[in-house]
Amino acid sequence: MNKKFGLWFLLALLLVMSFSMSVSAADKEIVLKIDDPMMTVNKSEKQIDSFGTAPVISNGRTLLPIRAVVEEMGGSVEWNAENKQTELKYADTEIVLTTDSKTALLNGAETAIDTAPVIINARTFLPIRFIAESFGFKVDWNSESKTITILSSDKTEEAEEVKETQPEDTEEVKETEPENANKTLVVYFSVTGNTDNAAKKIASETNADIYKIEAKQPYTDEDIDYNDDNSRTSKEQNDKSARPEIDGVIENFDDYSLVFVGYPIWWGDSPRIMSTFAESYDFTDKTVVPFCTSASSPIGSSTKTFSQLAKGGKWLEGKRFSANASQTEISEWIKSLDLN
Ligand SMILES: Cc1cc2nc3c(=O)[nH]c(=O)nc-3n(C[C@H](O)[C@H](O)[C@H](O)COP(=O)(O)O)c2cc1C
Repeated sequence: MNKKFGLWFLLALLLVMSFSMSVSAADKEIVLKIDDPMMTVNKSEKQIDSFGTAPVISNGRTLLPIRAVVEEMGGSVEWNAENKQTELKYADTEIVLTTDSKTALLNGAETAIDTAPVIINARTFLPIRFIAESFGFKVDWNSESKTITILSSDKTEEAEEVKETQPEDTEEVKETEPENANKTLVVYFSVTGNTDNAAKKIASETNADIYKIEAKQPYTDEDIDYNDDNSRTSKEQNDKSARPEIDGVIENFDDYSLVFVGYPIWWGDSPRIMSTFAESYDFTDKTVVPFCTSASSPIGSSTKTFSQLAKGGKWLEGKRFSANASQTEISEWIKSLDLN
C-alpha cells in the first residue's frame, strides 16, 4: 500500500514539475543591448553565442543572430548554406528568410520585409522585429540604453502596463530608428577586421547606420601580402588608376548628412578601393569624417588620395586608430569633433 502511494506521489510530483517547467519556458524576458555580446534571460546574464556576436543597427533596423533568442523561447532555427536560407519555427509559425532578399515566407505565404537578412563577418544577421512579431513576441526598444527587450506572449500584458505608465522610457524601434538612422552613416572597408572594430564603435557612439564596403573580388591572404611585390595589393597600390570593383551599393546614400568613412592604411596610403568608393557617390551637402587604422603610420594624406576624387562634401580632418581602438578613445574623439 505504501509502495502504491509512493508511486502516485512520484507521478503527481513529476506532473507538477513538468507543468511548472513549461510555464517558465513560455514566460521569458530577454534583454539585448546594441554592441553587447551578453544578454539577460529572466534577469540572469549569459553570452549570446560563443562567437561573441552582439546586436547591431543596420539600415535603421536592429539585427542580431537570432538563434539564441528563438532557442531561448523554445523554438528552432535551421540554416541552409546551399540556398542561403534560414528556417525558423516557433509553436505553429514557420518563417523562411533568404539572405539579401526582402521577401520572407510566413507559413508559406510570401511577405515583404523592409530589411533583408545580411551576412556580416560570416555571421547571418536577421531582422529581429519581423521574426519576433511574427512569433507573437513583444519587442521594445529603449533608445537611451540601446536595449531591446523581447517578451514571450505570456509577459506581453505586463509590458503593456509598464509602457502605459512610463511612455517616455520605451520607444518603438520603427518610430525612432529611421529618423536617427537616416542622419549618420559609418561606411568602411576592412580586410583583417581592425577597421571593423573602430567602425562598429563609431556607429554605436553616434547611433549610425553601418555599411561595409566589400570588394567584388574579395582580398585573400596572398592578395594582401605586402612582402610580395607581385601581390594584388602591391600592384594596385603602385597604380594610382587602379579601381577595384565594389560589390553592392549603399541605398539611400542621399539621406545621410553625416558620413564617417573608414579604411586601413596600405603603404602609407588608402586602399585603391576607397577611390572607387569616392567616385561612386555624390557627397554634396554631406559632412564627411574620415578615419583609418594602421600598424603605426599616421593618416597623413591618405584621405586626400580619394577625397579629391569625390564630388562635393565637407571633408573633415581624419583620425588614425590602432587595431584595438577603445570605446572611450572613440567617444572622446567624436565629442572633440563637435558635430552637433
Ligand atoms: C597590404 C598592407 C599594407 C600595409 N601597409 C601599412 C603601412 O604602410 N603602415 C602601417 O602602419 N600599417 C600598414 N599595414 C597594416 C594595416 O594598416 C593595419 O593592420 C590595419 O589596421 C588593417 O586594417 P583592417 O584589419 O581593417 O584591414 C598594412 C597592411 C596591409 C595588409
